[in-house]
Amino acid sequence: MSIWRTKSIEQSIRDTDEPGYRLRRDLNGFDLIVFGIGVIIGTGIFVVTGRQAAENAGPAIVLSFLAAGAVCALAAMCYAEFASTVPVAGSAYTFGYATLGEFVAWIIGWDLILEFTLAASVVSVGWSEYAGDLLALPTTVTLAGLPVNLGAVAIAVLLGLVGMLGAKLSGRVTAVVVAIKVGIVLFIIAVGAAYVDPTNWTPFIPPAQPAAADTTGVSDATLTHVLFGLEPTSFGPWGVVAAASVVFFSFIGFDIVATTAEETRNPRRDIPVGIFGSLLIVTLLYMAVAAVVTGMRPYTELNVTAPLSDAFRSVGADWAATLISLGGVIGITTVILVLMMGQARVAFAMSRDGLLPRALSRIHPRFGTPYVTTLLTTAAVALLGGLVPISTLEEMVNIGTLFAFVVVSVGVVVLRSLRPDLPRAFRVPWSPVLPLLAALSCLWLMLNLTALTWIRFAVWLVIGVAIYFLYGIRHSRLAAPPAQPSGEEGEGVGEGFLGA
Ligand code: ALA
Repeated sequence: MSIWRTKSIEQSIRDTDEPGYRLRRDLNGFDLIVFGIGVIIGTGIFVVTGRQAAENAGPAIVLSFLAAGAVCALAAMCYAEFASTVPVAGSAYTFGYATLGEFVAWIIGWDLILEFTLAASVVSVGWSEYAGDLLALPTTVTLAGLPVNLGAVAIAVLLGLVGMLGAKLSGRVTAVVVAIKVGIVLFIIAVGAAYVDPTNWTPFIPPAQPAAADTTGVSDATLTHVLFGLEPTSFGPWGVVAAASVVFFSFIGFDIVATTAEETRNPRRDIPVGIFGSLLIVTLLYMAVAAVVTGMRPYTELNVTAPLSDAFRSVGADWAATLISLGGVIGITTVILVLMMGQARVAFAMSRDGLLPRALSRIHPRFGTPYVTTLLTTAAVALLGGLVPISTLEEMVNIGTLFAFVVVSVGVVVLRSLRPDLPRAFRVPWSPVLPLLAALSCLWLMLNLTALTWIRFAVWLVIGVAIYFLYGIRHSRLAAPPAQPSGEEGEGVGEGFLGA
């Protein structure tokens, strides 16, 4: 048994046509841009911006967004090349399986489960708090002595049902919500611009100062600080970099566009359009929002739970603040939905390969969706969002995502040398320089996350390794490949499955 065995790309594509395990193909490039924006713009810009401006970057948070967006653009090129070459469900997991071997693929898949489930839970709690704020209702109640965030549970269950009804229905819901969300963001930029006081932009990069007292010892320091024995500081140029590592959260989601490759009509064209279109739009919107908000209010006053509405309240525009909160509640909904759909599809692909039990990858006969993994995802997100205080786990989402980006970027270079023959609708320019730059820049952002985050991430990976060696390695379909019709790999076999 080899942990380095790879699944051929032809096999991956063929699997997508296996009867009973086939996803519907009805999305196009525009759907993917909408889908991308639907999951990208969320808690990051609505909440994280304020705290990072107040604690790390000041008005230069605009530059942090630019830096994080640039790192994502590099990684996005690698995602686009992979997704246009291996157009099947599962994103980085599938790409890894075709290039770096089963064990690495499993680790990426395991890592993506962490990213998606935890991110959906974090965002559900954020949604719940905004909703509670808007309706002036408490969202957390004590049940059997435990504080339960009922708002987070409710939104997770509701969106799990929507996800189960099918990509097209979810796509329609997403389109309406995205229109409202982008409308609210443009509203913030246009109306907020009238309230900007340019003196708030000075100093643009506040001078470096010693970081606030460390509360939990070494764990609060970033890994870079621990490794190099540095004195932790806030603000200054390094503060801008540290803020970039955290506001990176606001960009998470463009990678999920690649998980829908199997459901697009023409993945080789639609995937790059979807990834770059959504990434470009949100980067511009984020920088504009960051500039407006830090111009409306001194950055030191931005560390509040709802900084965007708060900035409008501070200038006396209460009506605008309420509108923004309402837009936030509606807009954040799709982030949770798409994260949950992404998670269901990665688990689906892992199960179809036998690395998780096969029963998980059943497709609903009527809705054409992977309903078993959708149900399990819903349960996990509702449980975590409802019961676990997850504010400290936010960084876990970033480290998991950045790790996947590193593997995908390296994977591009590996696949170019292993399979130069494969058609690539999109090619990263200047390979291997750009892909390696993408990997290094993601690694740099990872190093600027806290040491505690690294420890938690290591524990998660150890559990994943144990599951692989106890289950996946023996149950993998590659361990006992199903009988294949003889002859060349390729069209003939694909047609057979398609005709079934
Ligand atoms: N990018 C997503 C957000 O900001 C996860 O909420």
